[in-house]
Amino acid sequence: PDDAVIFSMIQPTGVIHLGNFLGAINTWKQINDKKRPDQKIIYGIADLHALTIPKKDYSSQLKTNRMEAIATLLSCGINPQVSTINFQSMVGGYHTELFWYLSCLAPLGYLNRMTQWKDKKSGDQTKERLGLFAYPVLQAADIMIYKGTHVPVGDDQSQHLELTRYLSERFNAMYNVDYFPSAKTLYSKSKKIASLSNPSKKMSKSSEDRLSMIYVTDSPESIREKIKKAKTDSISDTFYFDPVERPGVSNLLEIVSGFQQKTMKEVEKDVSQLHDYRSLKEYVSDVIIESLAPIRSNYTKYTNDKSYLESVIQQGYESSQEIAHKNLTDIKKIIGL
Ligand code: ADP
Ligand code: NA
Repeated sequence: PDDAVIFSMIQPTGVIHLGNFLGAINTWKQINDKKRPDQKIIYGIADLHALTIPKKDYSSQLKTNRMEAIATLLSCGINPQVSTINFQSMVGGYHTELFWYLSCLAPLGYLNRMTQWKDKKSGDQTKERLGLFAYPVLQAADIMIYKGTHVPVGDDQSQHLELTRYLSERFNAMYNVDYFPSAKTLYSKSKKIASLSNPSKKMSKSSEDRLSMIYVTDSPESIREKIKKAKTDSISDTFYFDPVERPGVSNLLEIVSGFQQKTMKEVEKDVSQLHDYRSLKEYVSDVIIESLAPIRSNYTKYTNDKSYLESVIQQGYESSQEIAHKNLTDIKKIIGL
């Protein structure tokens, strides 16, 4: 049988937040740490996707963000000797060529139903861009060019993964082959971390509210401040997990559970001695600060070592290029090109 290929990507939007970390990157690290010889792991920085919402005078910022993204992955414990780390754009020719073949199979109606498209589109046809609309097809190509079998992502990506499976099936049926595997979605235990200031929303880089998210490189003071201001509720003598009635508190417990890799029952037991918000929030802050301390110090180390980052990128390029080249050659043969 073919090797399992674990593939995922993150956008180069600078330093990541707790949602990215607990929803995805921490799982990436666990997969990295438990890698078996019959597995390949590829983690990408989605710098082509970063262009779907065009910003003027963005090039130097993009350059910085890409390097920060690599430094962040290394800081979070992804080991480039174990997992391939690449920039999507460096192998972009392979990704975009497969994107084209898949575009010719992707129904417009399906893409129109994508919730991320519905959320992000402006509604003005003269301003709407093809790239933003087609982005889930590029994401499918990103996974399929490596024949990805498992994709560790947060909950917000589930619909895109369904499209990927759909396009794999369409391709296999169209050309009467059993070429593309059906990629499984791998969720982490905390697949959805909410905004601290508005727990009905997900924690997201696109939020304007500074207090809504904690970055993995935030200082202890900043973490304490943000947790102190996190929205909770007025039931203050007992803390338990109830995401519907108590979304704010439940989100804090979810964060603790994610960092400590404990079940919610265990976390509830740990906080059962706490009877006011001040103590709960101190407890949560301590857990976050302690868990993030090594990431924060690693990050400083890696961002100051540009030549090491460059070598990681070069090595990642070479190994992913080899796989993408081989697969695209097979794909073209199947298509008749
Ligand atoms: P963002 O959604 O903040 O712009 P990305 O789209 O780059 O970040 O997502 C990177 C990874 O982080 C994806 O696997 C995504 O599912 C996951 N993710 C993003 N936000 C959250 C969240 N609030 N909770 C859990 N996982 C998340
Ligand atoms: Na996202």
